[in-house]
Amino acid sequence: MSAMAERVLITDDDPAIQKVLTLGLSRAGFETAVASTGRQAVDLISGGGFEPDCILLDIRMVGLTGLDVLPMLKEARPLTPVIMLTALADLDAGIQSMKRGAFDYLVKPVLSAHVIEAIHRAIRYRNVLVENERLAAENREYQAYLEMKVEERTGELFSAYRQLQKVNLETVRVLAETIEAKDPYTRGHCNRVRLLAVRLYDETASDPKEREVLEYGALLHDIGKIGIPEALLHKEERLTAEETRILNQHPTIGENILSTVEFFRPCLPIVRSHHEWYDGRGYPDGLKGEEIARLVRIVSVADAFDAMTSTRPYRQSLGVERALAELAAGKGVQFDPELVELFLAREAYRAVQPAPIGTGESG
Ligand SMILES: [Fe+2]
Repeated sequence: MSAMAERVLITDDDPAIQKVLTLGLSRAGFETAVASTGRQAVDLISGGGFEPDCILLDIRMVGLTGLDVLPMLKEARPLTPVIMLTALADLDAGIQSMKRGAFDYLVKPVLSAHVIEAIHRAIRYRNVLVENERLAAENREYQAYLEMKVEERTGELFSAYRQLQKVNLETVRVLAETIEAKDPYTRGHCNRVRLLAVRLYDETASDPKEREVLEYGALLHDIGKIGIPEALLHKEERLTAEETRILNQHPTIGENILSTVEFFRPCLPIVRSHHEWYDGRGYPDGLKGEEIARLVRIVSVADAFDAMTSTRPYRQSLGVERALAELAAGKGVQFDPELVELFLAREAYRAVQPAPIGTGESG
């Protein structure tokens, strides 16, 4: 890594905010540039005048608003994270911006410490995405090479290929853990959902490609919670209708985040649809029965079981017996009845131990 300062573009039409942010960020070691309008920000970036590692973007500005400018910035620099600055009254615009590819949003008045923390988080996340793209490209290249050689040295090369798949899944697991870092109550949840889902899958089919898509999708199903305010994820009281509406955006936010990386395409239905209900009363699309892909239905059962048997801020674990009863009661309502039957009959839920990823864990 180079020792060069990381660069932040501050886009805000309020001179006072420009001043406070410039000062705070310079003190924290960032190199900064200021754009007073959205047009200026776009010109600066397209002209190559400034190559930021992260962009701060005010939503409410004279002329082009932050929401207008966001797609232009994303087009010019797709991997550069954009953090929106919103007024409290614009919370909905903040959420909209996440759907359009913003990395985060901060509600004004913002403290320098919070901005700096958010910038660090955004740059770290960008680095993971870049690394993932690189690994995926490397994987594709290597895979092509292996396929060519496979005829000559099948046995030996097959094990190398498995090795490489394992490395990739490990990277994705790290990405999934970025959400668990934000919400400590979900620690281990994504990995347990993966293991439970794989067991259930193994009762129904045995296609290695499909099984791998399931593993990635299960690990990443809640990645969109990155875009949900932490106060909401940690809330102990019942959520208000408005808060529920915001929380329920996490599947589409997750889909949006992952859709920027080709490698994740096959998992997108799992991320988008894991809260659909078998009877059509789920979200975000109200899909019904077999309209919901089978892999998604598998993840829904695994996700619900693990959520019910873990302690969450708003309630204790229900315990295995109650959780199983709830699954049974949800047959044909929330869940695919056949999958629930299999899950119960084969005791697929028994002691899920974290196992090395991608090694064909079965149990
Ligand atoms: Fe979820």
